[in-house]
Amino acid sequence: MVSIVIKKKIKDFDKVINLDSDKSLSIRSLLISSQSYGLCRIKNLSRSGDILSTIDGLKRLGIKIKLTKNICYVYGNGLNGFNYKKNISINAGNSGTFARLILGLLVHTPYEIKIIGDRSLSKRDFLRIMTPLEKFGVNFNKLNKNGLPLKIIGSEYLRPIIYNEKKGSAQCKSSVILAALNIPGKTIIIAKKSRDHTELFLKYLKLRIKVIKKNKFDIIEIIGEKQFKSFDYEVPGDISSSAFFVVLTLLSKNSKLKIKNVNINPSRTGFITIINKMGGKVKFLNKRKVHGESIADILVKSQKRFKSIDCPVKLNSNAIDEFLIIFLLASKASGISKFKKLEELDKKESPRLQLASKILKKMGVKVILGKGSIKIFGNPNLNINKKILIKNYRKDHRIFMTSVIAALCLGGKWVIEDMDSHESSFPSFLKILRNIGYKF
Ligand code: S3P
Repeated sequence: MVSIVIKKKIKDFDKVINLDSDKSLSIRSLLISSQSYGLCRIKNLSRSGDILSTIDGLKRLGIKIKLTKNICYVYGNGLNGFNYKKNISINAGNSGTFARLILGLLVHTPYEIKIIGDRSLSKRDFLRIMTPLEKFGVNFNKLNKNGLPLKIIGSEYLRPIIYNEKKGSAQCKSSVILAALNIPGKTIIIAKKSRDHTELFLKYLKLRIKVIKKNKFDIIEIIGEKQFKSFDYEVPGDISSSAFFVVLTLLSKNSKLKIKNVNINPSRTGFITIINKMGGKVKFLNKRKVHGESIADILVKSQKRFKSIDCPVKLNSNAIDEFLIIFLLASKASGISKFKKLEELDKKESPRLQLASKILKKMGVKVILGKGSIKIFGNPNLNINKKILIKNYRKDHRIFMTSVIAALCLGGKWVIEDMDSHESSFPSFLKILRNIGYKF
């Protein structure tokens, strides 16, 4: 358990950076490749811990994968083409996305497969995935309440379902979509809005998926059992990773940053909308479409003043992974910022709403925590000059990175335990900070 110690703020910078590749798209590109026929080439695949767990899991299921410096080669075996021995177990590590999505691809498994994960993942809720998959006719053996480990036992006789996804969880929706690919007939999902990467990916491959967009939800229809050919894919930069650098720049003095080649799918850009409503002027340049996804460069400059926000609930799912860093910005805004209906935040890698409230209080920020809600009393003059220790946060990568950014913009002496925490999603995080001038 190595800690990082940060004792001074970052100096002015004016840089152009590239981020690690998007985690959601890296995992989806691997899983979908595994179901195609032939050799897929994935460029710019993320090398984070979650993606390494995905590769390891797919290899255990008999998928040949070769990783070179720039390209990941996946030898797809077609739908339901996994090939493995009895009694295997798959270790999803810290990755909720892999653990939940792979269950959708295991609906036909003739043998029990055990899914395990690290301490943080084992505590997370899998009932949300087991319930719809059971409707298809899949069986589960729960070994730890609704968490991990669990065992999945598939069936040859599966039926399509109508599934109402009410949490706004892209993982639940995607797991059911992937299952539906392997099941005859039409599965219908009525899904509260959430990131739509899986739908866009399958549309890009011209599979039998139809999406009818309504105001608050989407109706997704999938007709399964259509084999598809291998494909090439290039993964863009991760917008969720950009959020740390956007807020770092906004809160630093006389600084400017261009972040190149970032995925700006509108179902992921909620934090930019929120930040711009708070007075930030974050811009997208050079917008383009690649493999059905929107990509751009992000331009951000430091700013002196921010307004508080009464955050519209409809932006919650589009900013779900960015609230910690938004809370940091709110702590420097003038006025009281309010965020509501964020119960899902406590179901992430750590109970994020609870931990955010604790850390903000340690920083000297007044906070009122409610049920799924938080009020943050911003202070534009907030400056820290005491010691802050961050520990026992279940190695949540986003808590780690938010704490580092807070230290670099607000001062004080920060000791943040478990320095490797960021590696599950963003291994280059500290290296990029060094490139923009911080000496650790
Ligand atoms: C993800 C969906 C979100 C998000 C997670 C990645 C995905 O989780 O928080 O980091 O790739 O589908 P939920 O589906 O639980 O909202």
